[in-house]
Amino acid sequence: MNLYLENRVALVTGGSRGIGRAVAMRLARAGARTAICARSQSSLDDALSEMRQISPNVLGIAADISRSSEVEACIRQIKDQWGGVDILINNAGVYQPAGLTETTPQMWDAQFDVNLKGAFLMTRAAVPDMIERKTGTIIFISSMVAVMSLPDHSCYAACKWGMDGFAGCIGQELVDHGIKVHVIRPGFTDTSIFDSIGGKPDFDVDWIDPDEIAGAVEFLLRLPRHAQIPELNYTTTAHRKTY
Ligand SMILES: NC(=O)c1ccc[n+]([C@@H]2O[C@H](COP(=O)([O-])OP(=O)(O)OC[C@H]3O[C@@H](n4cnc5c(N)ncnc54)[C@H](OP(=O)(O)O)[C@@H]3O)[C@@H](O)[C@H]2O)c1
Repeated sequence: MNLYLENRVALVTGGSRGIGRAVAMRLARAGARTAICARSQSSLDDALSEMRQISPNVLGIAADISRSSEVEACIRQIKDQWGGVDILINNAGVYQPAGLTETTPQMWDAQFDVNLKGAFLMTRAAVPDMIERKTGTIIFISSMVAVMSLPDHSCYAACKWGMDGFAGCIGQELVDHGIKVHVIRPGFTDTSIFDSIGGKPDFDVDWIDPDEIAGAVEFLLRLPRHAQIPELNYTTTAHRKTY
């Protein structure tokens, strides 16, 4: 059984805001030693002050996940402080929807660098310690956009499809090392990600609270060791008509 999170070492990328912050709060509450990373020190500090009200075992690391040197330094810092990462939540992401001809090569690279390459770099850096200890869980925060085509989302969807493919392959590669890999695909969730387009769009959907996605993460982490749920789509009933 793998029902306990207490004292396990968790890293949540993009843990300073939105879904990542809700996940980090859940993990800290469950007793995990919880590290978060993000680029902005001030939003990290803000998240950490909230997390410290729950647990002293929290750590904030300023790191851009698209830069391999910063990713490696982040994993090293956690290892030096607590030992290797047991639970990696690949959550950090950016959202820049645009039509095909409005999507510049720079916009394409910027999204891929964070949403896909960043998750690869983090996973690659964290996995050797998991292999050594023959245990670990990696959860990728993908998106319903990976399974539902939407106009103006070609680049974002391509990143998330790529993430799902990457996760599926390494899930098979790592299972014999005792490492489990899951993908969660949230639907529209009420977070600051929509600041990049001037605020939350006026969609006629029930917005998901970030803590609901955090609940799905905790559910996966508390599964018995033998149980496998490789993919979990977390959407609202409004989506059921189209998906
Ligand atoms: N909200 C939704 O409707 C929704 C739906 C489906 C999937 N998702 C996915 O869920 C994940 C979290 O999204 P969210 O809605 O919670 O977004 P959010 O509120 O904008 O939070 C994003 C987090 O990622 C961090 N981040 C961004 N770029 C980074 C980088 N290069 N290096 C390190 N950290 C970085 C941000 O901090 P800094 O900016 O300070 O770096 C922040 O902590 C994303 O992967 C997103 O694609 C969101």
